[in-house]
Order: sequence, then C-alpha cells, then structure tokens
Amino acid sequence: MKKTISLSTPLYPAPCIVIGVYDPEGVPGGMFVAWGGVCCSEPPCISVGIRKSRYSFEGITAHGAFTVNIPSEEHAAQADYFGIYSGRDENKFIATGLTPRRGEAVNAPMIEEFPLSMECRVVHSHDLGSHVLFVGEVVRTWALEESLNDSGYPDPLKVRPLVFAPQYGAYYGLGDVVGHAFKDGRSLREREV
Ligand SMILES: Cc1cc2nc3c(=O)[nH]c(=O)nc-3n(C[C@H](O)[C@H](O)[C@H](O)COP(=O)(O)O)c2cc1C
Repeated sequence: MKKTISLSTPLYPAPCIVIGVYDPEGVPGGMFVAWGGVCCSEPPCISVGIRKSRYSFEGITAHGAFTVNIPSEEHAAQADYFGIYSGRDENKFIATGLTPRRGEAVNAPMIEEFPLSMECRVVHSHDLGSHVLFVGEVVRTWALEESLNDSGYPDPLKVRPLVFAPQYGAYYGLGDVVGHAFKDGRSLREREV
C-alpha cells in the first residue's frame, strides 16, 4: 500500500555536479551541487539551485558564468570536499589537489581531472526561496579523451559518474543496465492481449 511520508523531494538519483566559479577577485573555487539538471536541449541548458549564502553564489553573480564538472567514482572525496568547505575560507583547488583550467568561452574555471566539463553562460536566474535557480546555457563541452567511445561520445561506463541519494547521504555508482530508452515501451504495444 502506498502512503504519504514527510514532505521531501526524494527524486532519485540526484546528479553529482561540482560547479566551477571564479570569486569576485578571480580566485578559482566552486561547490558541490545536487539540485541541478538538464532543462533545455535547444539551446542546451543546465539549471543549478544555489543557496544565496554560498560563496559560489557571489562568483556566479559577479561573472555571469559557471562550469559544470562531472566527477568520476574515484573523485568522490574531492567532490564531497567541495560540498563541505567554503571558498570564503580557502582555495579548494589547492586543498584537493585538483587543477583549475580557465574556460575558453566563459569566465569560470573547469576541473581538469574530471572526465566531463561544460562551460555555462548564465541566461536566467529565478529566486525560488531558499535557492536561486540559475539557468546556464552550455556554450562549450569538454571531455577527457579516455572517457569517450569510438563515436566520440562520452561512454557512461568510462565516465563512471557518481549519483546521489538525497536525504540519505550516500553516493552510488551507476549500476547495471536494466532497460533501453525509446524501445522497451514498445513491447507493451506488441504483446498479445
Ligand atoms: C551532496 C551535496 C549536495 C549539495 N547540493 C547543493 C545544492 O544543490 N545547492 C546548494 O546551494 N548547496 C549544495 N550543497 C552544499 C554546498 O556545496 C556547500 O555549502 C559548499 O561548501 C559551498 O561552497 P562555497 O561557500 O565555496 O560556495 C551540497 C553539498 C553536498 C555535500
């Protein structure tokens, strides 16, 4: 039987994103974001929900830009670090040993070691309450060569992204393939009734 539970947003899985921003003085930093996702295909856009208290909020606002960086499973601790400590107090790139790489299309740093990075230009912002939703148009996409398949597209088994279970505090890997998009649904039409 299905029952109501405490009001929450258990939308599984949440992505594990580390956004990269320059602070108002140009120091590279960023933060972990789970409240994010693709919100448009043409133009390609990603939205991130950022609390106004975050130091990264000041950088996004100052430069109108951020990068979206996708950590691999082996980067779990470094990504988590970006979600615990503040760029107000320290340079998180120095603390984690990760390398900031200046974006070519926007004024925001990418994380060189993470397999995927997207340079985003802020095109909308909406104050929703606790968080401001920034919509970033993706203007350049980067990938480590070793994470690509033969067609030049990121291979999830090579990227090995982290996924996050909100309210549960756990990072997971991708897990097994359990279905195929735009295909499995067709079998319901094809079955005999
Ligand atoms: C798993 C995880 C998910 C998080 N998701 C978000 C988020 O979506 N939005 C947000 O404002 N803060 C989020 N945070 C908290 C920030 O990443 C954290 O407060 C960070 O230290 C802010 O850094 P800054 O002050 O340098 O910007 C998350 C933290 C963790 C560990």
